[in-house]
Amino acid sequence: MEIINWKEELFPYKQATDELYVKFNSIKKEYIDLEQHSPIELVQTRVKSIASILDKANKRDIPLTKIFGTLEDIAGVRITCKFVEDIYKVVQLIRERDGKDLIIKEEEDYINNTKSSGYRSYHITIKYTIITATGVKEIPCEIQIRTMAMNFWATIEHSLRYKYNGNMPKHLKQKLEACAEASFKLDTEMGTIRDEIIETQKIIQTKENLVYEILKNIQNLYYIGKLEEMNKFNREFIDLYQYASIEQLHTFNSKLQTLANLYKVNHLE
Ligand code: GTP
Ligand code: MG
Repeated sequence: MEIINWKEELFPYKQATDELYVKFNSIKKEYIDLEQHSPIELVQTRVKSIASILDKANKRDIPLTKIFGTLEDIAGVRITCKFVEDIYKVVQLIRERDGKDLIIKEEEDYINNTKSSGYRSYHITIKYTIITATGVKEIPCEIQIRTMAMNFWATIEHSLRYKYNGNMPKHLKQKLEACAEASFKLDTEMGTIRDEIIETQKIIQTKENLVYEILKNIQNLYYIGKLEEMNKFNREFIDLYQYASIEQLHTFNSKLQTLANLYKVNHLE
C-alpha cells in the first residue's frame, strides 16, 4: 500500500494558487488604479481538500499512485465577474498569457453550452510553472470564470447536490433549472445597462482616488511640520467632502498640490 506524503505533494499546488491569486489581483488593481472597469471582480483560490481528492479518485476508480497525474482540479482558481461580457474579457487576458507564464490545456464554455443541470461558467484548464526549492514543476490548475449570479446558483446547486448525493428529486432538479434560467436572465438584463453601471462605478472610483490623494497631501503637511496649514485644509475638507462635486474636489486637491510643490513635498508618501 502506497503511502502519500500529502503535505509534500500538496505544497506545490498551494504555491501555484498563491501565485495566481497575486497575479489576477494585480490585474484587478491595475484597472482600478487606471480608473477603468475591472472585468475581474473577485479572485478566490483553493487547494482541494484531501477528503475531496480521495472522494473523486474513488468515484473515478483512479488508483492512489495516479491521483496527482490525473486530477486536473486539485489547484483551483475562481474568478467572479460582474457581467457576462467581462468573462470573455478575462478569457482573453488568460489567452494572452498562453505560452508565457501558463499553458492552456483546455477551454470549456459552459455559458454557450449550458450543462443540463443549468450550470454556467467558463472553464480553462492550464499548466502553471512554479519554481520550488527542489526545482521547476508544472502544476495543473482549473480556472472557473463566472458572474456573481452564476456563482450564486452554482454554490446553492452544489450544496443541494451534496445533500442528495446524486439522487436529487426530479422536482428539485427542475426548480434549479428554472432558477438557472432566471438567473441568466438577470445577467442578460444587467448586461444591457452595463455601460451605465460602469460609468457610475468610474465616478465613484475617481472620487475615491481623489479623496486618497487629498488625505495624503494633508498628511504630508503634517509630516513637514506645517500644522497650521494642515488644520486649515483639514477643516475645509471636512466641510467640503460630503457635498463636493468631482470638480470641486479636483480644485481643492490642486490647491494642496500647489502648496506641496511649493514645499517640495510631493514625493513624500
Ligand atoms: P468534475 O470536476 O468531476 O466535475 O469533472 P470534469 O472536469 O469533467 O467536469 P466539468 O468540467 O464539467 O466540471 C468541473 C467543475 O465545474 C466541477 O468540479 C464543479 O466545480 C463545476 N461544475 C460542473 N458542473 C457543475 C454543475 O452542474 N453544478 C455545479 N454546482 N458545479 C458544476
Ligand atoms: Mg473539466
